Amino acid sequence: MSRVLSPAVRTTQLLSAMSLSDKLALLSGVDPHAALGVADGPLYVGYVPGNPSLCIPALTLNDGPAGVADLQVGTTAFPAPIAQAATWNMRLEHKFGQALGMEAWNKGINVVLAPDVNIARVPENGRNFEAFGEDPFLSGQTAVAAIDGIQQNAVIATVKHYAVNSQETNRYYVSSNLDDRTLHEIYLPPFAAAVAQAKVGAVMCAYGFVNGVASCQEPNLLKTVLRTELGFRGVVMSDWGSTWSTVDGANSGLDLEMPGGRFFAAPLADAVSAGMVKTSTIDAMARSILMPMFRLGLFDDPPPPLSAVSLTDVSTPADKQLALEIAEQGTVLLKNDSSALPLRLRAGDSVAVIGAPAGFGDIRPYIGGGGSSFVISATPVTPLDAITARAAKAGATVVSANGIDPVAAAQAAGTATVAVVFVYDQEREGEDRPNLDLPAGQDQLVEQVAQANPNTIVVLDTGGPVLMPWLDQVPGVLEAWYPGQRDGDAIAAILFGDAEPSGRLPQTFPSSDTAVPASTMDQWPGTRLAQDAAFSEGIDVGYRWYDANKVAPLFPFGFGLSYTSFAYSHLRIARARANVTVSFIVTNTGARAGSDVPQVYVDDPRAAGEPPKQLQGFEKVFLRPRWSKRVTVALTPPSFSYWDSTARRWRMAPGLYRILVGASSRDIRLRGFLRQPGP
Ligand code: NOJ
Repeated sequence: MSRVLSPAVRTTQLLSAMSLSDKLALLSGVDPHAALGVADGPLYVGYVPGNPSLCIPALTLNDGPAGVADLQVGTTAFPAPIAQAATWNMRLEHKFGQALGMEAWNKGINVVLAPDVNIARVPENGRNFEAFGEDPFLSGQTAVAAIDGIQQNAVIATVKHYAVNSQETNRYYVSSNLDDRTLHEIYLPPFAAAVAQAKVGAVMCAYGFVNGVASCQEPNLLKTVLRTELGFRGVVMSDWGSTWSTVDGANSGLDLEMPGGRFFAAPLADAVSAGMVKTSTIDAMARSILMPMFRLGLFDDPPPPLSAVSLTDVSTPADKQLALEIAEQGTVLLKNDSSALPLRLRAGDSVAVIGAPAGFGDIRPYIGGGGSSFVISATPVTPLDAITARAAKAGATVVSANGIDPVAAAQAAGTATVAVVFVYDQEREGEDRPNLDLPAGQDQLVEQVAQANPNTIVVLDTGGPVLMPWLDQVPGVLEAWYPGQRDGDAIAAILFGDAEPSGRLPQTFPSSDTAVPASTMDQWPGTRLAQDAAFSEGIDVGYRWYDANKVAPLFPFGFGLSYTSFAYSHLRIARARANVTVSFIVTNTGARAGSDVPQVYVDDPRAAGEPPKQLQGFEKVFLRPRWSKRVTVALTPPSFSYWDSTARRWRMAPGLYRILVGASSRDIRLRGFLRQPGP
């Protein structure tokens, strides 16, 4: 078949050469161990056999969001997606996507099960680390950058988990009950961006239910919204074991059952014979799978076979460097009293490096979160090693304590010039955190170390927000998330000022377990008996809720300090037909080069019924000391629209809109106005 023909024509031609059973064989996976005769070791997490007589390649599927996972060896462990989002650097995220797609392809994989764009509704979500935070716009843009990069290779990206899959408690059965406006304004936009802006090839439908219907057989979600409203033309695959039925699944818009064919395969063939599923439906399902395969090059540019590459190291020096840059740019400086950071150590000074995540053998927690996205990294660089090496350059020495015994840790801290305490949480797929406390007595550890040495810096290796009862007792706090395999290199460079922590929070950090948008049991985790989670906070998710209810967070969305300082000025708002350009000048007013992330929020007229402000644009800028740059952010009609549930369409409320430019959602520095005529 010719490559000159369009993917649609090639798909049609191929379909006309296929029998019903050829088509049915495409619609479910098989056990890759059995199919490939591999007992253990690196393998695909999903496998759909090819059809050699028709030249259809097999689909070889692997996770995921932080690098090529599922026991694959020789791949790069990148920082967790929450850290990727915290970079607010879309060029960097695009490079991440390219690297991920390339490593996958080199490992024989042609479908990557990433990115995860589920909105951070509750900070306790066990997969908080695996997605891009609480804001639909930031999540969408980060996803677009990643998908674009992945699909520059002959690899299909999979945006997941569709939809409203925002908790792990009772994850197979919980029903997310929400209204249509909340669905469209908060939970769908990242998927919409992935489809419209990145032309993602695959969508994975989720575990769990939406308004009482299983996600993988919810016709409103899979057909009306995804196909008609969003215009998706690719494949809808189930999550692993999230298919609930044969006839309803196929007729509601699910194309591919994974990982096996419990409901599709033979039962689907029977359903077709019985007239319960039409052959035209089977055609449409097969078309949805074949189209992105043609469009993204899976037929023309097949990856090497697993047997040839299962032990190959595909992590290039450039990929490792990228993992370092993301870790640095994703790290958020939360507190820095009296310029405690960067450290200024002289010969003879000493650093106490404390806590399990610094790298003390087996007790070290993840450099990524637990579950399907976990990447095995042969050689993670530990903070203890990297800090020891960097301190030596300054003529300083290191003392260390693993933190299991707080008394020993305090003793080590007491003897040192400065103490750096690493603390962690353990997020993993399959369960939510019980609360927002640091586990395993780590609050006491920080308190005792801070008492022994007032010059204490806390490094958080957490997948999301935690409470910090000791915050007043320490001058410096860094949120490093799960930093991937260059962990130690990144944190040592930041501590010593060789690199700057230029991340901004993609998620609000609450001041208590209860001062959060979903604070009742009905909201989260839901009542297990009814299996319902009431999304009664509606569109007031994340900072939208804190703003609407005037609740002060511990650290607001968009927040992050810098080793230098920035000023914003000269706001200009210009209109060209329906589009609006917001521009302003950012100046580095400090003495160091550094990066800033000015954020553009829109405050709609009250009649629209929207929260006080919503992120609609941002840019990461790097500036030398005393340099300025005019930043331009384009706003389009969607930036000014709300979802009208009655009319089932986006609508622009007429009236006065405020344009807010801030260094965070709670640090608005410039304000302007714009009058919109409405529809
Ligand atoms: C279940 C997870 O929810 C999904 O994200 C992952 O891609 C599959 N398992 C395959 O590992």
